Amino acid sequence: MRALRFHAFGGPDVLQLDQVEPPEPAAGEALVEVHAGGLNFADTERRAGTYLGALPLPETSGFEGAGVVCAVGAGVEAAWMGRRVAFIAPRAHAERCVVPAQRLIALPDAVDFVTGAAFPLQGLTAWHVLHTLGRVRAGDTVLVHAAAGGVGQLLVQLAREAGAHVIGTVSRDAKHDAVFAAGAQRVLTRGPGFQKELHEVAPGGVDLLLEGLGADVDALASLAPLGRWVTYGTAAGPPPPLALDALYERSITVSAFWLRSALPAEVAAQAQTAVLARVLDGRLRLAISTAPLEEAARLHRRLESGLTSGKWVLTLR
Ligand SMILES: NC(=O)c1ccc[n+]([C@@H]2O[C@H](COP(=O)([O-])OP(=O)(O)OC[C@H]3O[C@@H](n4cnc5c(N)ncnc54)[C@H](OP(=O)(O)O)[C@@H]3O)[C@@H](O)[C@H]2O)c1
Repeated sequence: MRALRFHAFGGPDVLQLDQVEPPEPAAGEALVEVHAGGLNFADTERRAGTYLGALPLPETSGFEGAGVVCAVGAGVEAAWMGRRVAFIAPRAHAERCVVPAQRLIALPDAVDFVTGAAFPLQGLTAWHVLHTLGRVRAGDTVLVHAAAGGVGQLLVQLAREAGAHVIGTVSRDAKHDAVFAAGAQRVLTRGPGFQKELHEVAPGGVDLLLEGLGADVDALASLAPLGRWVTYGTAAGPPPPLALDALYERSITVSAFWLRSALPAEVAAQAQTAVLARVLDGRLRLAISTAPLEEAARLHRRLESGLTSGKWVLTLR
């Protein structure tokens, strides 16, 4: 089978399409014939060697996909055979991927493979960041940094649905339209005048600040008293150290999210159901672009240059 692999950590050029033996599902696992694989910022970090956790090489890229179950290991219900599924699992950018059975998400007929590969990782992340950690309430003013990105656009939509007033930020004016289309009431470009502009738009500060940037986030200057700050990534670089005593003055709550801690079946099920229902009925619109697997290196380059908006999906068949 074809697999998008890297034999060394480095830039997008280390990605190559290799012919390898398909994996076999062990007990509790299913083998999925992959039709589409979602691309995430984490794929670029994993390839560059900066992702959390050690990784043996060579490694296959990808964290999520959609396709058809073509084999099951011991202990997995035979009824999964032939089912259309989406999933979150490593090594998804290959023609076959082994998936723990509890990570299989049955795809309704109305959801195509590209959409199926687009929603799991960013959808679950956005849900937990906004609801589980952010505890959004109707009437909150919510600041979503990098709001044109994959997770960003979902956060904007979910926050509006929850009754929040949403301010999105972007690095360049060309991304404003995407954030307005997702439903933000205001869009600001981050730069030297940003805090002044934010103060004009939200004079008392924002109630909830959501960011996957890490660096370049002056969260304490943006938040209102009793404000909540949820950080979920480091796309702009590692965050500066945070002194706990800096939180006292305005009683700020800080929390950090990593999807891996929310993947156990009992935690994932509720969020999965909520996100998939919204994809199905159109409350969540995924701004998807597609490209064949062969173009993965080009897309990695664009993703880590911050040039993309919305979600990119790699097609395998
Ligand atoms: N914690 C978790 O479990 C989890 C799960 C999924 C994603 N994440 C994280 O969430 C963040 C967004 O992920 P995503 O998949 O939505 O990515 P994405 O679509 O590529 O969006 C990332 C955004 O980050 C901004 N950015 C700032 N500096 C950048 C840089 N040096 N290079 C590239 N982008 C830069 C860009 O927006 P601007 O142009 O507006 O700056 C870009 O649109 C990432 O940090 C990712 O690792 C975390």
